[in-house]
Amino acid sequence: MSPVLRFTDKNIIVTGGASGIGRATVIRLAAEGAQVLALDRDLDGLVQTQALAQATAAAGATVVYAQVSVTDEVAVKQAMADFVARTGHLDVLVNLAGVLSSEHTTKTSFEEFMRVVQINLGGTFLCCREALPYLLESKGNIVNAASTSAFFGHAYMAAYSASKGGIAALTQALSREYLNRGVRVNAVAPGGIATPMVAAQAQSFPEGADFQLYMHLSRPDRQLGKPEEVAAVIATLACADGSFINGEVVRIDGGTHG
Ligand SMILES: NC(=O)c1ccc[n+]([C@@H]2O[C@H](COP(=O)([O-])OP(=O)(O)OC[C@H]3O[C@@H](n4cnc5c(N)ncnc54)[C@H](O)[C@@H]3O)[C@@H](O)[C@H]2O)c1
Repeated sequence: MSPVLRFTDKNIIVTGGASGIGRATVIRLAAEGAQVLALDRDLDGLVQTQALAQATAAAGATVVYAQVSVTDEVAVKQAMADFVARTGHLDVLVNLAGVLSSEHTTKTSFEEFMRVVQINLGGTFLCCREALPYLLESKGNIVNAASTSAFFGHAYMAAYSASKGGIAALTQALSREYLNRGVRVNAVAPGGIATPMVAAQAQSFPEGADFQLYMHLSRPDRQLGKPEEVAAVIATLACADGSFINGEVVRIDGGTHG
């Protein structure tokens, strides 16, 4: 764990904080001194994240949570307002809440397509929109979660890939819109990270899917990245070390798609 305290006096919201990359990010940011609000719809996961993060948090850093769906406009607005009322300001928003669904496109219902897009892209938009007024005050920044699926064509993931491509475009659009107003907006584009999302996907290959088409999602040695390796990049983008990085989507895949 890094002994560097890059987030002392910084207040940060992490969506998807109950699991995987979101949990690793909450742990990393608290270890570097941040006050963190973890948002997720999974209450048990949030409780576990809080316990893990508090165990390695820097002195004075705290981790709180709120059980919220990122698609619930009222709840997102309220959770952010409560956090800012208690801490005074919001410095960083990290959008990691997301869902993955893989299926043959011809078997994907419109409802399922829209569910994935609504959570991944709609939830990211909503959280950005609600956080921006606070971030304009603090001259803060946003880190979103795109994916290598946004750029490299992952088979059987049409809805997911479309949602992640939208997040990459949203990231770049916001970075341009707020260029002269002191708010940076970046994204990470991980590929093949060992989390519950990827473990669940491995158990649910679409029936009749061509497994060869999945092969490029991980390295030839089948090695997956660690959530902590993504969290480390998110932390760097979000702190002063990343001050001249804006509108960037950073690929984190060990070279798999290179
Ligand atoms: N793991 C990978 O290989 C990988 C690769 C590229 C991008 N990503 C992206 O990184 C992010 C984190 O993924 P992960 O692998 O840690 O997955 P994960 O499943 O471990 O964690 C995702 C979290 O999002 C939460 N969530 C889902 N829908 C929600 C909603 N409506 N409201 C609030 N919370 C919700 C879940 O409860 C879960 O805690 C996702 O956006 C994912 O698409 C992951």
